[in-house]
Amino acid sequence: MPELRPAVEREAMARLDFAEADAFLTRLDQLSFDILEPLGQVYAAVTDPGKFATELVLDALEAAAQRPVPLRLLDRRREIDPAWFQRSRMVGYVCYADRFAGSLAGVREHVDYLAELGVTYLHLMPVLRPREGENDGGYAVTDYGEVDPRIGTMADLQALAGDLHERGMVLCVDLVLNHTAAEHQWARLALAGEPGYREMYLVYPDRTEPDAYEHTLPEVFPGTAPGSFTEVPGLGWVWTTFHEYQWDLNYANPAVFRAMLGAMFALANRGIDVLRLDAAPFLWKRIGTDGQNQPEAHRIVQAFRALTRLAAPGLALKAEAIVSPEMLVQYLGGHDRFRPECDLAYDNQLMVMLWSSLASRDVRLAEAALSRRRPAPGPASWVTYVRCHDDIGWSVSDADTGAAGLDGRSHRRFLSDYYSGRFPGSFARGALFQDNPATGDSRISGTAASLCGIEAALAAEDPDRLTAAIRRLESMYAVAFSFGGIPLIYMGDELAMRNDPGWARDPARRHDNRWMHRPVMDWAAAARRHDPGSLEGRVFAAIRRLADARRSLLALRSGGSTEILPTENRSVLAYRRAHPRSAPLLSLTNFSDVTQAPDAGIIARAGLYDPVPVHSTTGRLTITAGRIELPPWSFVWLTGT
Ligand code: GLC
Repeated sequence: MPELRPAVEREAMARLDFAEADAFLTRLDQLSFDILEPLGQVYAAVTDPGKFATELVLDALEAAAQRPVPLRLLDRRREIDPAWFQRSRMVGYVCYADRFAGSLAGVREHVDYLAELGVTYLHLMPVLRPREGENDGGYAVTDYGEVDPRIGTMADLQALAGDLHERGMVLCVDLVLNHTAAEHQWARLALAGEPGYREMYLVYPDRTEPDAYEHTLPEVFPGTAPGSFTEVPGLGWVWTTFHEYQWDLNYANPAVFRAMLGAMFALANRGIDVLRLDAAPFLWKRIGTDGQNQPEAHRIVQAFRALTRLAAPGLALKAEAIVSPEMLVQYLGGHDRFRPECDLAYDNQLMVMLWSSLASRDVRLAEAALSRRRPAPGPASWVTYVRCHDDIGWSVSDADTGAAGLDGRSHRRFLSDYYSGRFPGSFARGALFQDNPATGDSRISGTAASLCGIEAALAAEDPDRLTAAIRRLESMYAVAFSFGGIPLIYMGDELAMRNDPGWARDPARRHDNRWMHRPVMDWAAAARRHDPGSLEGRVFAAIRRLADARRSLLALRSGGSTEILPTENRSVLAYRRAHPRSAPLLSLTNFSDVTQAPDAGIIARAGLYDPVPVHSTTGRLTITAGRIELPPWSFVWLTGT
């Protein structure tokens, strides 16, 4: 393997002061293998990997030289404390800047609101300049160097990051790296026949190769954007996994890798702490496959990680990989050996298991699935969540349904029926998304509150049903806050915001019912959050209590372990969080309409002999005749002294 240091040593000493240059070169020594190995595996056939790596390292050096001093301080702190994002004080909030507060300047005015809720990690949905008109919620970027002018400027983004840092909070934004908008300059130049630009994309002269690929490619939006290729007059058939205006980038071309790395450096130097790598599984295409999770896609992300660490060691990468359960952990570096990859990844499996347990009142599938999986490697963490801006897809493997004695296909159908409200007696008010009669698959849209039954209970004006629905929402969040990882609150869930009844009014959004769960923030509802009798007051207080309780519990730091403890009770999900420096935490959640009474022996089984209740739905722990009393839809967290 070539050595990278000699080629850049002199340049580093010239561009940085001695201490910074020494730190850069030390990082380079440490990261060389993680840079060279993946680049060699992906690009050896098209370029000299050693030469390419040197170019990229010089790019990293330039970014390091331009890195503002306050960010270098953050880097230093994070190199001393690499587990900075694993602390139990980490609580995330996810929103669209415009829907939350009109603009980036508006978001800066609402940081107090976030702090009050206990939020320390703000994820803003796509902020970079999108195409006009339909743009998939900003996931069709025309310029990676510019902020969407409707919400502000790069300077505003930088100012927001600065405000957050001052308050000990961090900022995450999306990097849409699998595709650009069809209006991106590269696409325009490709259309104009400018040399070198056609190769930024995957373009075919006729249908031969697209047909061969489509043989095994699943469709992401079968109802609204069928197929994975779009015919572009004057160019040919362009690979468009998502919509026809989102052109997939050709990562086999080293220039694409280099350009995206440059976009990462630029955002990091504006003060972004976490980059959400959108649609990471799709980066590499291979005939005869589903076009996801290819080894090269992982190698590309690994190289991104090593090179960004070099320039901006305080930056963390988060994978958006909504893939089958057995593929998930690889995005955290969990391969046969640990290959540092993303620091964070969405725990899609936990999210699906929560909704499955809630509808079926049965946690056995969750127990089977969550105890069979490979744990997250110690330096990385999940982000745990109940809802996000996307639909819920029933990513449940047949092996897991089999282990729980269920038929996969009918269980997935049941879940879609349940959450779309078709199932008799369902409490949920959601809608089917991309119902695909050809495969029998469908996904679900709807806000957490509507899916948990709050919308239906309000319509029925039934206070008992409302209490049950609030408890469902609280219990779901209680698991997200205690399972291990950074919990994310999806904007509006803290106020029990229901589906947006006007979502279809905008013609650019009418065909995409994910907009029903992307409402505009209701600040009038937020104003009721201190009224304990109001719906908003009850839910806001519940979420805030979870953040408060979590903050002091070392066992909830990410990086510890989670162990499912099966109980004899099919509606009670029990797990134990452990961290070497603290007593374990035992969490019990009742996913049913009736009181459950699991055997209190589970407390000792969890390694707790002197249990202390730290948090619960009712504020009490009742043990009667050796049984723990868990009211309907409730949870309890216990720890030791
Ligand atoms: C991600 C986003 C989703 C978007 C897709 C294409 O999955 O979360 O909203 O449609 O990428 O960019």
